[in-house]
Amino acid sequence: MVPSDEKDNTPESLKALPTDERISPINRLQDTWKHSIERPEEFWEREARQLHWFRSWDTVLDWEDHHATWFKGGTLNASYNCLDRHLDTPVRNKVAFFWEGEPGDKRVYTYQQLYKEVNKFANILKLRGIQKGDAVALYMPMIPELPIAMLACSRIGAPFTQVYSGFSRESLAERMRHLEAKVLVTSDGLWRRGKIVDLKGIADSAVGSCPSIQSVIVVKRTGHDVDMEAGRDLWYHEELASVDSGHVEPAQMKSENILYVLYTSGTTAKPKGVQVSTGGYLTFVTSTLKWSFDVDERDVWWCAADIGWVTGHSYIVFGPLIHGLSSVMYEGAPEYPDPGRVWRMIEDYSVTKFYTSPTLIRHLMKFGDDFPNQYDLSSLSILGTVGEPINPDVWRWYYRVIGKERCPVSDTYWQTETGGFMIAPAPGIELQPLKPGSACHPLPGIDPLIVDEDGQPVEDGVKGYLTIRKPWPGMLMTLYKDDARYQEYYWDRYPGAGQDLFYTGDYAVRDRDGYYWLLGRSDDVLKVTGHRLGTIELEDCLVSHPAVVEAAVVGKKDEIKGEVPVCFVVLKVGHERSQELIDELKQHIRNTIGPIASPSDIYFVPNMPKTRSGKIMRRVIKSLTDGESVGDLTTLEDPDAVNEIIKVVYPKK
Ligand code: PRX
Repeated sequence: MVPSDEKDNTPESLKALPTDERISPINRLQDTWKHSIERPEEFWEREARQLHWFRSWDTVLDWEDHHATWFKGGTLNASYNCLDRHLDTPVRNKVAFFWEGEPGDKRVYTYQQLYKEVNKFANILKLRGIQKGDAVALYMPMIPELPIAMLACSRIGAPFTQVYSGFSRESLAERMRHLEAKVLVTSDGLWRRGKIVDLKGIADSAVGSCPSIQSVIVVKRTGHDVDMEAGRDLWYHEELASVDSGHVEPAQMKSENILYVLYTSGTTAKPKGVQVSTGGYLTFVTSTLKWSFDVDERDVWWCAADIGWVTGHSYIVFGPLIHGLSSVMYEGAPEYPDPGRVWRMIEDYSVTKFYTSPTLIRHLMKFGDDFPNQYDLSSLSILGTVGEPINPDVWRWYYRVIGKERCPVSDTYWQTETGGFMIAPAPGIELQPLKPGSACHPLPGIDPLIVDEDGQPVEDGVKGYLTIRKPWPGMLMTLYKDDARYQEYYWDRYPGAGQDLFYTGDYAVRDRDGYYWLLGRSDDVLKVTGHRLGTIELEDCLVSHPAVVEAAVVGKKDEIKGEVPVCFVVLKVGHERSQELIDELKQHIRNTIGPIASPSDIYFVPNMPKTRSGKIMRRVIKSLTDGESVGDLTTLEDPDAVNEIIKVVYPKK
């Protein structure tokens, strides 16, 4: 497989792309896709049969009021599908996880060992009073106890939420309160760039404002001193020593029961609790991992994401374990102790399929070719990316220097809300010509439509809003405790469209060969190092500072991080601009949201550019920070506000 066209890769040039004769109208991929769209229930039913069901379903899909119930009447258990079903097969003694800590310590778990650990943890949770339906919060680093805890929760039917370990006390507390979690599982700390991050300290300050939390289970990772509150906090290793280690009967979950809730950023200050089903979601991750990475029992899979994000849920934990794969899992920073770490690990574990973000590739690419060239990367057969558009140059570097022009690059487009890959190459069905920077075609069962403002289809080559026409099993069930927001954001956007269209919040264009190109978010959501951040979350946080009266946040293009937040702030009377105040505001953001939200710049301005009705014109501010033309300014109330922004952003001009 080769990239089909090395030159025509920018969206502007799409119209000029020649029709590629290699894409025959009757190839296998198109046939599979067409069949799946014409007979979705037949298609998804076949996919669902890859799982073990305690009871089969009565109906494949119930679709009512934008709520999908997949495989109604069916019962199953996620941890059973990931572990127990392998125990009377050769997978039993196969490695499930090769884990490396940042300092270089290593652990290996076979499927049998993982099964035992999960049962022990499930016993601990039961002892702490957790029953089917009770919620558990996880605030864990990338250590084996994280997947163990997730599987233990799913074993006893406890919905869980994993809160990314880079999030702040406030973010953790807000999520635990919203979910009404009864138990929090965390660790004393984690290793990052050779230093200890005191996770337990952050967790302690969050738990204080979460009355629902009854116990905190603490995994010893770093061994530094932490406070343990008597009666509430328990060391995991002490619990393990005292608990019954026997088999815990996996709960028979209805297909539509919640597996997890994962909070993600949206267009308001409050994060959205994406609620995920058991049967539909597991079917979808199993199906998509096979299509996009053609996985089989010989693979050593490395999804180099953090389990705090959906990528880790779907493609470090559930998908690979259901397929019985051996996975690599890594705790720390990719360039620690040197920028060859990732490439060395690929050599050491003979990784066959490597899946990561464009940000990580850009980051490692800047250290040059010498680091990857020192290692034997010949085990690799497929590479993947996710989370943000990949620049064609970066795609080519990945393809040439890492994949040695042998490995197809699966650029997978999807979201927390979709549960798994939506648009991506499908080497599991057929090798297609690739185009650097394009996520290629929709996977079987996925029916995208690019539309204009009114929900009407646009022609090929024209940029529009990406929507999805048919329900698919991995889709979110709703937003936890907020169905109104679910309906409004995802489904009510195009009342005149004449059909149900799921709004993704992304711009896209389809070229004449039917390839999809993702062109970034169309709403107020940023992708910073592939992580999702709402501009409104940042604005809300800034305005909560006593010196700030008004704030506007936009994303600025960044070579490594993709995008970085840039903040414009109007100060309250009596507060002066100063470097100290900038530092204080940055710290305020780190404390409230987390270090990932740290802005690159904070500018003080006397006024915001606003429409006459008082709406801040972020479009204008964004164009100014990107150095682009600001377009039509006739609706501005005070055109001088634009000059003020130019003055602060470009002080020498
Ligand atoms: O804007 C799209 C971008 O990431 C968003 C989803 O972010 P999140 O829910 O955090 O999930 C990230 C991991 C699945 C999308 O709305 N995105 C994701 N994959 C791609 C992408 N943009 C371009 N190309 C991709 N392959």
